[in-house]
Amino acid sequence: MTHQLRPWHPEDAQEMFDAASDPEIARQLPPFETEADARAYIAKSAGSDDVVAYAISDDSEKVLGGVMARLNRPMRTAWVSYWLVAEARGKGLASRATVALANRLFDEDVHRLELGHRLNNPDSRKVADRAGFIQEGIMREELEYDGVRYDTALMSRLASDPVPDTEPLPGLE
Ligand SMILES: CC(C)(COP(=O)(O)OP(=O)(O)OC[C@H]1O[C@@H](n2cnc3c(N)ncnc32)[C@H](O)[C@@H]1OP(=O)(O)O)[C@@H](O)C(=O)NCCC(=O)NCCS
Repeated sequence: MTHQLRPWHPEDAQEMFDAASDPEIARQLPPFETEADARAYIAKSAGSDDVVAYAISDDSEKVLGGVMARLNRPMRTAWVSYWLVAEARGKGLASRATVALANRLFDEDVHRLELGHRLNNPDSRKVADRAGFIQEGIMREELEYDGVRYDTALMSRLASDPVPDTEPLPGLE
């Protein structure tokens, strides 16, 4: 089984909607009430100059996850996020997807990538580490979920930082 990044298709809306039933994934996406909301989000992202979003997929085109960046073009920065459905975790797909996205963005002259992870989300931290991000500091009580505020690590990777030893997922070359 090979894995790759590919653009989101309108037909992925049901799988994206289903994935968002996991509250940890829902936090990486806008709120969806119906599959039509996911379809609208896919269309809006595809039509935006400031969003770069790919599905993490396999030979069968099944949606295993997503990796995306929201660009601030004047500053040449981008905010990165990623998620995987539960059955696709533990295989390096998010780390490899994030490296591939970083390569693409640096090729497009983005200089600085940023992401934030709750301190109680160690799996996300490991993805950031494997994708070459470096911790800059702690954003105190930055995020709020279900009435609880969470300290959040701010991580960044610059175009000039060392390239991590993580093989990028194919699809964006
Ligand atoms: C965060 C999230 C994407 C991490 O998923 P993950 O499967 O742990 O991350 P990866 O796909 O990079 O896989 C890494 C694991 O695969 C293993 N692995 C296997 N082959 C690998 C390879 N070729 N390259 C890298 N890692 C590999 C790693 O050792 C690691 O396992 P470990 O944590 O036991 O050491 C996932 O937990 C998730 O979707 N959470 C909900 C959404 C979320 O929190 N997003 C981030 C918000 S900041």
